[in-house]
Amino acid sequence: MQELQTYLKQNKEKQLNELKQLLAIPSISAQSEHKKDIQTAANWLAVHLKKIGMEHVKIVKTKGYPVVYADWLKAKDKPTVLVYGHYDVQSPDPLEQWKSPPFIAEVRKGNLYGRGTADDKGQFFAHLKSIEALLQTQGSLPVNVKIMLEGEEELGSVHLAEFVDKNKKLLEADVCLISDSHMASPTQPLMEYGLRGIVYTQVELSTMPRDAHSGSYGGNIPNPAIELALLVSKLKDEKSQRVLIPGFYDGVRRLALRERFELRKSSITRKTILDETGVKKTVGEMGFFEAERAGARPTLDVNGLWSGYTGEGQKTIIPARACAKISMRLVPHQDSADIAKKFTRYVKAIAPKYADVDVRILSASEPILMQKDNKYFKVAEKVLKEVFGNSPRYELQGGSIPVTAILKDKLGIDSVLMGFGLPDDGLHSPNEKLNLDMFYKGIECSARFLTSF
Ligand code: BES
Ligand code: MN
Ligand code: MN
Repeated sequence: MQELQTYLKQNKEKQLNELKQLLAIPSISAQSEHKKDIQTAANWLAVHLKKIGMEHVKIVKTKGYPVVYADWLKAKDKPTVLVYGHYDVQSPDPLEQWKSPPFIAEVRKGNLYGRGTADDKGQFFAHLKSIEALLQTQGSLPVNVKIMLEGEEELGSVHLAEFVDKNKKLLEADVCLISDSHMASPTQPLMEYGLRGIVYTQVELSTMPRDAHSGSYGGNIPNPAIELALLVSKLKDEKSQRVLIPGFYDGVRRLALRERFELRKSSITRKTILDETGVKKTVGEMGFFEAERAGARPTLDVNGLWSGYTGEGQKTIIPARACAKISMRLVPHQDSADIAKKFTRYVKAIAPKYADVDVRILSASEPILMQKDNKYFKVAEKVLKEVFGNSPRYELQGGSIPVTAILKDKLGIDSVLMGFGLPDDGLHSPNEKLNLDMFYKGIECSARFLTSF
């Protein structure tokens, strides 16, 4: 361990510079003009995995973006840890709000700023660096390691279930290790034992083939923007904030009193939400408190809404169509296909008959809930306590990491969610950052975790 500590101390700058190279590749999965960059990132990672001593490195094509795979399997009679990360990132807009360019990572006051620093390049890179350090100082790894790096997590991991299904033997492992979440504070680790699922949709409502003059026709023809606004207003009850889609709550797991009590101690509170977001008031489902709403209750949100003329000045038209991106976060035991069906049916039913409504399901992934007494969670608990001084708190996370439910379903394994981010990292927002101290501690946690069997 001493030798490893020395190695880690001496290689901090090198590790940071390598991470900066990876962060410089704008691998934005949502935008097709960045298709080449996704491939560049995959290539860069494959080369890097070889360089650090991983074996059987390959870039595996899927119907979407490729998965980068590598392994090291020479630890006889030891467990196999599957390390997962995603090398795609969210788009950086609004660009003008960044203090430094999103794809030229910059250190300011101990934080590394740039798109993908926390979500998720910086976080999974910590595992690559711990593996490299172990191989450099010990010549071997204490466990078997497989690495799977995905290129379309931010799109909802659309092709990952098929990939895992086709490669069950290749991916077989005892546990999955993921760093793609955050701690409550720099000294309070979290262990997420559940994540929400998500159904992401796009709705288009159209009434005529092209826009019309609003003077000639206003007062005589339907306005799709108004019709869509009315439709959206029928998705949630204003007072109770409950989703009005029939059957939406069917099967939703009720928390035991004890679990509700535990959740009261969560780091997700009205105050942290107000502080982190800047809103004046939390708004959510009646009868539930904030931590419960974030982790244990499903919800529905509009992620985008557009219609008609939105440029400079004015344009007097009645738009021909209006669109919305609408997503639903799911909890156990909702089923994404069932919710997608119910959503589509309800939207079509409440839309006016003289409008054409198109509902597209862009992605669907299942929620996951894991047993806290899992033996790998205990190992992570020990490691986090050693490095951060406090035992992790168990929490339910409101975000989604689709691979977790896929691995549970296809391989029967749980995921240890050992996140090194912080609540104010600004995932998906301008000025995303990763605290460098957390990055280096992440490397140490990873090395200790792999050495604990
Ligand atoms: N890393 C996040 C998930 C996350 C967010 C975990 C906050 C913990 C705290 C992940 O990259 C993400 O953004 N997931 C998407 C998934 C979706 C596109 C299917 C999400 O939750 O919106
Ligand atoms: Mn992520
Ligand atoms: Mn993300």
